[in-house]
Parts: sequence; structure tokens; C-alpha cells
Amino acid sequence: MALTALGVALAQPQSPTKQVLSIGDLNSGYNREVWAMSIWAIAFSIIIFIGVSWALFYTVAKYRERPTSTHQAEDFHGNNKLEVALVGVPVIIVAVLCVLTVKSMAVLNPTPKTAVPVDIEGRQFFWNFRYPQAKVDTALVSNGNELVLPAGRPVALTITAADVIHAFWAPNLGGQRDAIPTVKKTWQVNSDKPGVYQGNCSVLCGASHANMRFKVVVLPQDRFNTFIQAAQAYKAPTPAAGSAEARGEALFLNGKNGQGSCAACHRVQGTNAAGVNGPDLSFFGTRRTLGAGMWEGDKAREMLPTWIKHSKVVKPGSLMPSYDGTQENYPALTDAELADLSAYLRSLKLPEQADYWQGVD
Ligand code: CUA
Repeated sequence: MALTALGVALAQPQSPTKQVLSIGDLNSGYNREVWAMSIWAIAFSIIIFIGVSWALFYTVAKYRERPTSTHQAEDFHGNNKLEVALVGVPVIIVAVLCVLTVKSMAVLNPTPKTAVPVDIEGRQFFWNFRYPQAKVDTALVSNGNELVLPAGRPVALTITAADVIHAFWAPNLGGQRDAIPTVKKTWQVNSDKPGVYQGNCSVLCGASHANMRFKVVVLPQDRFNTFIQAAQAYKAPTPAAGSAEARGEALFLNGKNGQGSCAACHRVQGTNAAGVNGPDLSFFGTRRTLGAGMWEGDKAREMLPTWIKHSKVVKPGSLMPSYDGTQENYPALTDAELADLSAYLRSLKLPEQADYWQGVD
């Protein structure tokens, strides 16, 4: 009980990232098209608002009843000029918006052959991002909750979900897309400016919907290539015998006394951990976020042991079992064991030149 209370107290997610979420980020091809259309729609709205307001006030002012009024209101039927204008002007407005929409669709909808393919999978409550062009043996290179993309090049995102409906939304990249189980949808995005952008799941999908964030790290093309090559060549390091990392690795792969192995649900490239129910942890040590964006940076490092031990407390609805002895078939881990596991996970790093966080935020 005390531990649970402690867990909850520690678990308050830190305030969201400092990056600005903006659908007005014109470094994205999608947002540029939408923005250009919005200007027209806003301009038409302003003209209509001014016209209607003027007509209203003019009529009220001019034809109001005065103490001196004596004449009867005129009775007339129809006004051809007015009716042509009232039909014609909206038709012109709709036609202009229609042409602009078709033009934008022609720009945005085709996915160029040169686009870099990336598969997105939403799950309760995290994301996996896979790179189908980069394979290790037969498995795809993938990363959990941090999506690395090249700048200035079209990317073909293909989205699906494993359990319930989620939605992928990184406003700086473009519009929201639903992630629907058994359905795969592909669309194109491109961002000209390297940087780190915030993303969120944007369809209510369960208790931790709000804790289903992700980062989009847009890299210059050469650094993206370095990342992909290093990711493809990556093999988890073999820890020195007797080190904390070695003890952590044994716990990760085999569990404690044969119970609760992490490898049953998580994949770590270059080991026999090939689970797919949890996020891919291959480059966990390079990642800066924890718990699908619940914590970042130093706070994420600090929270790691608490997260492993009390995941169900700190992230309501999480399918990750708690290692606090409250769950059948999952052992309670001691502080020393949690430290070993944390040390192992932090050692799972991409080579420094492939660290996608460097110099982009
Ligand atoms: Cu996934 Cu909301």
C-alpha cells in the first residue's frame, strides 16, 4: 500500500515537452498545402462576415420605424438580380475551394517511389516504428516510441494497430491518421527541417491514452543514413562477466528463478529476446523517453527502476506486469536487481555517431 502510494506520488508525468505543437509548421509539405487552402477559406469567411454584417446593420438602420414614419411597407415578390447573386457567389466560392482541394490532393496523395517506407504500429499504450527496408536477418529494424525520419525527403508511413483503434498525430508533420486493427493505410509526409517534434495518440483508447506519446526526430539525410546503417548492423553488446549489465541481461532474458522474463514481450536486436507484445527495446539506451513519453531525459533515467517495479501503478491499464510481488507468476525484484536491469537496458546504445538525439534539440 505504502509502495503503491509512493509509486503514484513519483509517477506524476512531467510537463509535456517544450517543443511547440503546431499545425502551422510550414516546414511540412502537408501543412503547407493545408495552410494555403486555409488562407482562402479564412479570406472568404471574412468577406462573407463583413458583407452579412453590413447588410444587417444597413437594413436595420435605414428601414427602422421612425416617429415620423407614415408610409406603408412596400409589398413585392422576388428580385432576380439578388437571387442570381445569392446563388452565384456561393457557387463561385465552393468552386474555388474545390479546385484548391483537388490540387492539394494531387500533391499530397501520391506516394513517390523514392519515399522512405516506415511502418507504424499502435498498441495499448505505446508505438513501434519499423523500417521495412532495413532488416536484420528476417526481422525488421524497429524502435519503440521514437520515430526517426530523414529531412527533405518524402516518407511513406503505413499505419495499423494491434488491439484497439489509436490515432497517430504529430501536428508539425501533418494531419492525424487512425490506426485501425487489421487495416493498413499508407500516406506521405515530409519535413524540411531537422528537429524534434512531439506526437500523441489522439483517439481515446483506454486508461493510459494520455500516456501514449511519441517523439519524431527529423535528421539531415546523411545522419538518417548513418542511423539506419548502424541500426541494421546493431547487435546488443555482450556485457563483461560478473558486471551489473551481465546480471541484468540474465534477468532480462531468463527472468528470476525462471519467472517473468522480459524477453517474452520485448525484442532486443542481437539477442534471443524477440517478444513483440511490448515496445522494441533494441536501442533503449539511446532513447530519451520512458513509458511512451511519460518521462524524458534525466527524469526518465531516474524513473526506470520504479517503472519496471510498479508499471501498472505508474501507468494505469499498462499491460506491462509489475515486479513488486503483487502479480502471479511475476517475481518481486529487489532494488539491486532493478539496478542491474536498468544498467543492462541503458547499455543498449547505438554507436555515438548514430545517436539521433545529438544536436537536434
Ligand atoms: Cu492509443 Cu489513445
